[in-house]
Amino acid sequence: MARPSSKKKIKKIPIKNIDVQPKVDKQYNLQREFFYHTGIYFKDLDNSKELNQHLFKHIKQWKKRDEKGITRSNSLGWHSAVDMHHRKEYHGLTKELFKMQQEIYINESYHPNTEPILDNMWANVNYKYSHNKNHVHPGAQWSGVYYIKAPENCGHIWFTDPCGQRHMDLPVMDPDKPKPIHYWREVHYAPIEGRIIMFPGWLVHEVAPNMSDLTGEKGWRVSVSFNFAQRWKKDEYIEPKGGHNGRGKITISDLK
Ligand SMILES: [Fe+2]
Repeated sequence: MARPSSKKKIKKIPIKNIDVQPKVDKQYNLQREFFYHTGIYFKDLDNSKELNQHLFKHIKQWKKRDEKGITRSNSLGWHSAVDMHHRKEYHGLTKELFKMQQEIYINESYHPNTEPILDNMWANVNYKYSHNKNHVHPGAQWSGVYYIKAPENCGHIWFTDPCGQRHMDLPVMDPDKPKPIHYWREVHYAPIEGRIIMFPGWLVHEVAPNMSDLTGEKGWRVSVSFNFAQRWKKDEYIEPKGGHNGRGKITISDLK
């Protein structure tokens, strides 16, 4: 049985608290706890201006070579092949994605003997009126998007409440008070150049039509999407104390 390779102290990454909740009046002696949260992470890259120029140049060349692209959730826009993570010219971004996944692993207390694997990655170019229909990313533990070009009004990404049962009996809310965050049915993120957003692959999301008035490529919305899975590091599996799990995936060549 393999042992943990490192006993490094786990450093918690400070996350800005955006969970603004109404104050509960102490006179009623009410206490409230929240469960079943859905985390969405985002991070702005320091070197994004230079990186984005490089990425845009290569994506344009790729698009020229394969103008048809492929069709997934995209409507009208261009969607590249999904092997972007194997292409050397994009490794600058790919490394940043891995770095952020590793930070999330620490922050979410994932087992230190596991590691993220990048399953697939692709580029998106949304022209005027292009959008992405609502969808999830099957098989992905974490999915995400990185923005290369995001002119004004080029389309928000939004995530819908994964707890459909809550919609059965929505209360009538006080119109003079801000709606508490746990009653929101959708959450919108405006695309920001140089920003990575990562979210659970099962979380339903879509992208609004690109309504930028800029002409030509100035009005394009250009982004990169990707899917991560989790696996045990090689020879680092540790049998859990209270039970068993599948110990990861194998192929027939693993049977010796
Ligand atoms: Fe997506």
